[in-house]
Parts: sequence; structure tokens; C-alpha cells
Amino acid sequence: MRIPERVKIVEVGPRDGLQNEATPVAPAVRAELIRRLAGAGLPVVEAGSFVSPKWVPQMADTAQVLAALDRPTGTRFPVLTPNLTGFRQAVAAGAREVAVFVAASETFSRQNINCSVDDSLQRCAEVCEAAKLLGIAVRGYVSCVLGCPYEGGVAPAKVVAVAGRLLGLGCYEISLGDTIGVGTAGEAERLVDQVAATVPVERLAAHFHDTYGQALANVLAVLGRGVAVVDSAVAGLGGCPYAPGAAGNLATEDLVYMLHGFGVATGADLGHVAAAGRFICNELRRSPDSKTARALAARVPA
Ligand code: HMG
Ligand code: MG
Repeated sequence: MRIPERVKIVEVGPRDGLQNEATPVAPAVRAELIRRLAGAGLPVVEAGSFVSPKWVPQMADTAQVLAALDRPTGTRFPVLTPNLTGFRQAVAAGAREVAVFVAASETFSRQNINCSVDDSLQRCAEVCEAAKLLGIAVRGYVSCVLGCPYEGGVAPAKVVAVAGRLLGLGCYEISLGDTIGVGTAGEAERLVDQVAATVPVERLAAHFHDTYGQALANVLAVLGRGVAVVDSAVAGLGGCPYAPGAAGNLATEDLVYMLHGFGVATGADLGHVAAAGRFICNELRRSPDSKTARALAARVPA
């Protein structure tokens, strides 16, 4: 199997991870986590969301998080912006990169952002247009690509259509989100092949949650199809507030361990990533949801 020689890891723990933790984390601690992840050599660390604090209180005060970060560093700090309101707040807080998100499932869209898929694409269009004028890069997410918590199966054609629309709006990269972590490697591989007919595979990213323990296998499958950007969350933090029962993202420690085993370059230092995971887990009073992190902590020889 041929896989890319270099993989860009997009660390989403401070956003996708912390948005689903019951314990809210203070902005200063979120900023310290981001600093440690950047210091571990991760090239992109999603720093938070400009969404309604009534809907996702854990992401309140993302402006304070951005204000506490030293920039420029070698690391980029994108933030989620579902609409122009969030985009304007993000820009005012100094964000230089944003991400928009659209579901491939109607019911999930209404539960997550209170509007239809078409309406959310319209909101993304407004964000992309405003971002273009300011030279701000926009990443696009498609949620529920391998299943929806409310509707069950999701037609790959719907994923292809939404991903294609986001590309057309000017998103530089489209992250395919298995929001509830139900997908398996064969399904992931087939989906990437279908989407790649519309969105070049160099523009695709993989975003797997690990509910059924399939995330790492799914990553390997899509690396084999040419995907070279993978989202993960330190310590396997995460989930989605509107996806009941969904587990966290693939753990960054497990991803880095596998990639480095292949000799794939990531820029990340595994020991430092794991230390950042221990830092945030201490704050949350939980243990890392990563076998690699646990093995490193117990000094199990590799
Ligand atoms: P809404 O209630 O429909 O919005 O929420 P509205 O336009 O009717 O406005 C209602 C109030 O919200 C107004 O304030 C607005 O100003 C305010 P009021 O007049 O009542 O005082 N408002 C905002 N406030 C802060 N930030 C904003 C904003 N927009 C309006 N951006 C909204 C619509 C999208 C805001 C809401 O549904 C929301 O915030 N949802 C949260 C969605 C979310 O963060 N989900 C998790 C991230 S997605 C994810 O995790 C999936 C991903 O990881 C990939 C994968 O795994 O699949 C990316
Ligand atoms: Mg997610």
C-alpha cells in the first residue's frame, strides 16, 4: 500500500474535543493547551468556535483564547464560524483562518445549526465571500459523511454534492467528518474515491470520531487513496454536542505513533503531544482516551 510521505495533522482537540466536555475550561487554560500543542510541532491547531454560547457554552470566550496566543508562530489557529455573525466576531478577535461546517444530513443540520442544508450553504457562501475580501482562508467541513445520529445511513451522493459546493465557494480544503464514528475502512475508502471525482484528493481531509474503535483503520484506508490531511484530537478528547453517544476524535497520539511507524513526516513530537494531553486531562480530571498516551505514561517499551 502506498501512503503519502508527509501528512498534515489538523489538531482539533481544543475545539472539537473541549466543546463536548462537561467541564467548561477557562480561556487561559484553553490557550495554554493550544500553546503546548503548537510547541509540539503540530502545524494547525483549531483554537475554538464563534458559535452561540447558548448552544455550545464550552466555546464561549474564544476571543480571549485568541488574544492569549502569541502570533505569528509556525502554527495556524483556525476557528469555526457558522455564519457572518461568527465570522465578524472571529475577524475582530484576530482570526486569520476560519472553518465553515455543513451537514450531509438534513436532520443533523437542523439539530446542529438550526437550519436546512441549503440555508447553511447560503450562510457559508456569505462567510466565504467576506473572507475572500479580507484574504482569510476558509476550510470546509462536511458532517455525517458515513452516518447520521438521527437519519442513519447517508447517501454518498449527498456528501459529494455538499463537498463540491464548499469547494465551489472557495474552501481550500474539505474535511470529511464521520461525526458519530460509525464508518468502517471499506466505506471510508469508497467514499473518498467517490468524493475525489468532484473534489481533488489533495484538497480532502479525513475527520474520524472513534465511537466504534475504527478511526485509525479508517485513516489508514484513506491514506491509501491519497488523502494526506488528517484531523485528530489530543488525548482523544471530543465528540459533538448534537450527536448523542458519539465518542471523541481519533487521538493525536495514536495517529502520530502510527504515522511515524511508517516513516511518514508530520513535524510532531510524540512525547510533547502526549504531555499536552496529560496537561488537559489533569484539568478535566479524566485520563487520556489514547492507548499510545497510556503506554507512554506507563513507559511500556515500543
Ligand atoms: P440560531 O439561534 O438559529 O441563530 O443559532 P439566530 O440567527 O436565530 O440568532 C439567535 C441569537 O444567536 C441572536 O442573538 C444572534 O445574535 C446569536 P440574540 O438576538 O438572541 O441575543 N448568534 C450568534 N451568537 C454567537 N455566535 C454566532 C451567532 N450567530 C447568531 N455565530 C447558530 C444559529 C449557528 C448560531 C447556533 O445554532 C449555534 O451556535 N450552533 C452551534 C453549532 C456548533 O458549534 N456545533 C458543533 C460544531 S460542528 C462539529 O462539531 C462537527 C465537526 O467537528 C465535523 C464532524 O465531526 O462532522 C466540525
Ligand atoms: Mg467532529
